[in-house]
Amino acid sequence: MREKRPIIALDFPNAEAVKQFLKLFPAEEKLFVKIGMELYYSSGPDIIRLVKNLGHSVFLDLKLHDIPNTVKSAMAALAELGVDMTNVHAAGGVEMMKAAREGLGFGPKLLAVTQLTSTSEEQMRADQNIQTSLVESVTHYAQQTAIAGLDGVVCSAQEVKGIKSLLGEDFLCLTPGIRPIGSSKGDQKRVVTPDEARSIGSDYMVIGRPITQADDPLRAYYAVYTAWNAL
Ligand code: C5P
Repeated sequence: MREKRPIIALDFPNAEAVKQFLKLFPAEEKLFVKIGMELYYSSGPDIIRLVKNLGHSVFLDLKLHDIPNTVKSAMAALAELGVDMTNVHAAGGVEMMKAAREGLGFGPKLLAVTQLTSTSEEQMRADQNIQTSLVESVTHYAQQTAIAGLDGVVCSAQEVKGIKSLLGEDFLCLTPGIRPIGSSKGDQKRVVTPDEARSIGSDYMVIGRPITQADDPLRAYYAVYTAWNAL
């Protein structure tokens, strides 16, 4: 169930910058964009309405993690905004994830973050007191996500094959850290190309700066689109 459109991470400081960026695209080009904490907390729900009114699809990346009742109500509010995809932390537990699903309903896709890719195995052991390997922890959280009835997980490209072989091809994997050949890595450490992400089996890929900071973002987007959809 691979989504053809690369998801563009709109990591801009405010709505004005988003508007300027979206104006670069022809009006009939319907994009899939990711809105994260920075933009959502600075611009509020209006940023979702603005992007949805232009006909684009929205992945709202807020990574909710709270008691089940609070997450359920928050998700109901996000469903009202018309988000197409959003997420929670799997560490919140199966009960919390089920509550998230109840609040959001079954229209939008709901994913879980397993271990953040910024967490090393040493940090996980020391900070979270989880004494397994990082891969085992990621796998465990992915299983809990499936038990809770969510659609899939956010994971690094390296983890896609293992997760799919355990939970099935229909369990969705969204991967960030994508870099076209020749583009700067920025602060990303382990990167894959759009082509690799596709052959690994990712269903969605998130890519930001190689498009948003490009001299010609439109051209960069189409190049990524083509590589992601190559046979
Ligand atoms: O600009 P870049 O392509 O690195 O943007 C990737 C986006 O995906 C950013 O919004 C970043 O926060 C997000 N992300 C990530 N790695 C993760 C989870 C989210 O890069 N493991």
